[in-house]
Amino acid sequence: MAYHRTTRTWTLLQHFLASFLLLSTLVVSAQNVPPSVMSAGIDLLDASHILHFLEVVDAFGHVSLRNPDNSSQFLMTFAIAPAQATSQSIVTYEVENATAVGLTFNSSVVGAATPTGFAERFIHSEIYKKFPDVLAVLHSHTQEILPFANQAGVPLVSQMHTAPSLGSCGAPIFDVRTLPRTILPDNQLHDLLVRNEALGDALANTFSNDSQVVLMRGHGMAVRAASVRDVVFSSFYIKLDATVQLQGILLGGGTAPNALNQREVTDTGTTALTLVGRAWSLWVDQVDQIGLYTNDLRNKAAPTPTGF
Ligand SMILES: *[C@@H]1O[C@H](CO)[C@@H](O)[C@H](O)[C@H]1NC(C)=O
Ligand SMILES: *[C@@H]1O[C@H](CO)[C@@H](O)[C@H](O)[C@H]1NC(C)=O
Ligand SMILES: *[C@@H]1O[C@H](CO)[C@@H](O)[C@H](O)[C@H]1NC(C)=O
Ligand SMILES: *[C@@H]1O[C@H](CO)[C@@H](O)[C@H](O)[C@H]1NC(C)=O
Repeated sequence: MAYHRTTRTWTLLQHFLASFLLLSTLVVSAQNVPPSVMSAGIDLLDASHILHFLEVVDAFGHVSLRNPDNSSQFLMTFAIAPAQATSQSIVTYEVENATAVGLTFNSSVVGAATPTGFAERFIHSEIYKKFPDVLAVLHSHTQEILPFANQAGVPLVSQMHTAPSLGSCGAPIFDVRTLPRTILPDNQLHDLLVRNEALGDALANTFSNDSQVVLMRGHGMAVRAASVRDVVFSSFYIKLDATVQLQGILLGGGTAPNALNQREVTDTGTTALTLVGRAWSLWVDQVDQIGLYTNDLRNKAAPTPTGF
């Protein structure tokens, strides 16, 4: 009897100790993270979930942001579907070479122990390297834009006031077939993926000043922005814009529909920045209602407890 009671007490003590250790690990990881990085992590998880909710990404695609605490680094999840991202999927990467520093919110996972990253993280690192003002990047395979990525004769332009990021001259197209062999040698995979610094650099060089988007033939798009909320807003309306332009072309029997001109692109660009907050607030509420998405960095720990 006494033996059983002692065992039980001991088991309880063990449970208590285990919970305490788990809790203190969390407290320690949180303490090591500056508030700016915590906010960035919350936004990155929301962005990943919202992009899936809005069907800009599916199982594939990725979004990242520059580390607000260190411009030589960026935060992005390891290779996981964006909908399934949690705090424990976020990795800090070097802008220099897209090498993993470690998990951003778990100091016990560093360097080579970090789970495998996206093969195409060089899209992000090379855009950050080339454009110091860019603070967020998205890559997606959004189906609606693909006809324009494959149809170089019909440039995708801004059709509506919520998509000024497309510009008025036409989003440039990145086509691996046009690359010299020094960048894409014959003995490398021609699978359209941006798998290394040389390809990422060639993609980054494709951006034009007029457009925040590069279409990728047979593949998808890359979008750059001054914040992760802006990159989500831009990407969603680029997707809608592509449908509107295609419908306009069909309705006009092939005639190019009216697009925004340079002045309208510039001015709607200014106005769009004031709209992002309202959209973001709605989208965060929407993803918070859905059990599939877990933003475990948010104070209210919505929507479901994750056990940590
Ligand atoms: C910023 O990041 C770079 C690249 O990872 C690193 O070498 C440097 O030490 C970092 N700076 C600080 C202040 O942490
Ligand atoms: C990547 O870049 C960082 C920062 O410049 C450097 O410290 C590190 O050694 C590089 N890693 C590789 C594998 O090249
Ligand atoms: C941090 O990573 C370690 C090693 O993978 C893991 O055991 C631990 O549960 C992680 N911490 C949290 C808070 O998830
Ligand atoms: C594009 O922007 C860059 C950097 O802002 C500038 O140096 C360059 O002159 C611009 N090019 C054109 C064609 O406007």
